[in-house]
Amino acid sequence: MTALSVSTSSAASLRADALVVGLAKGPKGIVLAPGAEAVNEAFEGKLAEVLSTLGATGAEGETVKVPSPTGLKAPLVLAVGLGEAAEERYEPEALRRAAGVAARALAGVKKAALALPAESADDVEALALGGLLGSYAFGTYKGNGNGKEPVGELVVLAARKGSKDAKAAVERAAAIGEEMNRARDLVNTAPNDLNPKSFAAIAQAAGKEHGLKVEVLDEKALTKGGYGGLLGVGGGSANPPRLVKVAYTHPKAKATLAFVGKGITYDSGGISLKPAGHNETMKCDMAGAAAVFAAVVAAKRLGLVVNVTGWLALAENMPSGSATRPGDVLRMYGGKTVEVLNTDAEGRLVLADAIVRAGEENPDVIVDVATLTGAMVLALGTRTFGVMSNSDELRENLHAIAGEVGEQSWPMPLPAELRKGFTESTIADLANMGERMGGGLVAGLFLKEFVAEGTDWAHLDIAGPAFHESAPFGYTPKGGTASAVRTLIRFAEQTAANGKA
Ligand code: BES
Ligand code: MN
Ligand code: ZN
Repeated sequence: MTALSVSTSSAASLRADALVVGLAKGPKGIVLAPGAEAVNEAFEGKLAEVLSTLGATGAEGETVKVPSPTGLKAPLVLAVGLGEAAEERYEPEALRRAAGVAARALAGVKKAALALPAESADDVEALALGGLLGSYAFGTYKGNGNGKEPVGELVVLAARKGSKDAKAAVERAAAIGEEMNRARDLVNTAPNDLNPKSFAAIAQAAGKEHGLKVEVLDEKALTKGGYGGLLGVGGGSANPPRLVKVAYTHPKAKATLAFVGKGITYDSGGISLKPAGHNETMKCDMAGAAAVFAAVVAAKRLGLVVNVTGWLALAENMPSGSATRPGDVLRMYGGKTVEVLNTDAEGRLVLADAIVRAGEENPDVIVDVATLTGAMVLALGTRTFGVMSNSDELRENLHAIAGEVGEQSWPMPLPAELRKGFTESTIADLANMGERMGGGLVAGLFLKEFVAEGTDWAHLDIAGPAFHESAPFGYTPKGGTASAVRTLIRFAEQTAANGKA
């Protein structure tokens, strides 16, 4: 794992293998970003000119490497594009992305220093987090020599003032970034290795390491408890389902949050089998559970004054002689019955059980996170998650804080008229399919049926951004992204700061 640190030494005298500076598009050509002063001096004030000669434009994501002149201890300078030059300060997301791009471009390098804008502790945190996320590589299955090692050490060069705050900022970034990378690892692990049982075991081990209480319901306990959703979805698999509860409590907490994650370790579609072309990435269908687990561990590492309970609804959706059939009726935890019309609409079934169970403990708010519908991907694309809620205030708040931490989201409605499409099953209370149009909202409305009256609840459909298939950008690699982790952490922080949800 990449080591993070902060230093107030001058870029010129720091011993490192590479120095990173920022470059931006100014009104009259390219300009260096704050932080590059000492490096520019070593270039006799001509660094922008040199970079321009090499074809640099300052565009976001661009990287240009230059050998250092005498006067710098580091042999290499890497300029990264920040996009449009900022008038006053660069947005944290621009800094996170630039640091991420730099970390990726410097794979194989032992030690790099970021001479990027770092005037405040927030800037330092953004650079450290972007750097840590950008250096992420999933190496579990790759043989040696198949790629470069991630950059070994990243030093954030901070402006002299407030160095104590800067150190705390780097520690925060490490806690958040390492937990995000944990979520990415879980998503990227092949589904023949990550199944409900092994996921639960990983949660137990990590929970123990961090002093969290972890309880696992296995198939026997689920049967005894009447968890028809989890058992119905997991019934076709050789790997039986699990419900994992992971609890972080703080003695001074004034509020309790419940985070519920969809944890389908592989979604083949079940008997309503997905066609080829739609199942190759379905190991990512547990990204909600991974996000929830990571957020609870991060809450603990940050010592937040709030209780956070994570619920991981884990099952593998497979076709077999013991699988749920389209036409079966499941009795869900809490007693509602659901006619399964399509076994590929499985996420809402496992979440329903977990939402009812979470609600029994009377949390102040329930937030579920799920790669729930292809319809949400069609609506919002692959980088934006949908936010639905039974509370306008909660929905707007989650959308706002997502933006603050650099996650793209959009508020989506739960139109009442879409309810009748799945509440008019002739033989059960509900059906797991409704109208095709607005499928993401239909799924949200289905989940709402399982939220106790009076409980604030929100649903994040991360089917688009959870798994990144095209070229890496900023600090986002291919594969698992850790979508929604930062939003959940910020929500817990905000709740802790307000003393109420
Ligand atoms: N896991 C999928 C949704 C999904 C699609 C996640 C694309 C990530 C990327 C979910 O279980 C599913 O299959 N949903 C169906 C629901 C339909 C049968 C009502 C869908 O969206 O097609
Ligand atoms: Mn499915
Ligand atoms: Zn699914």
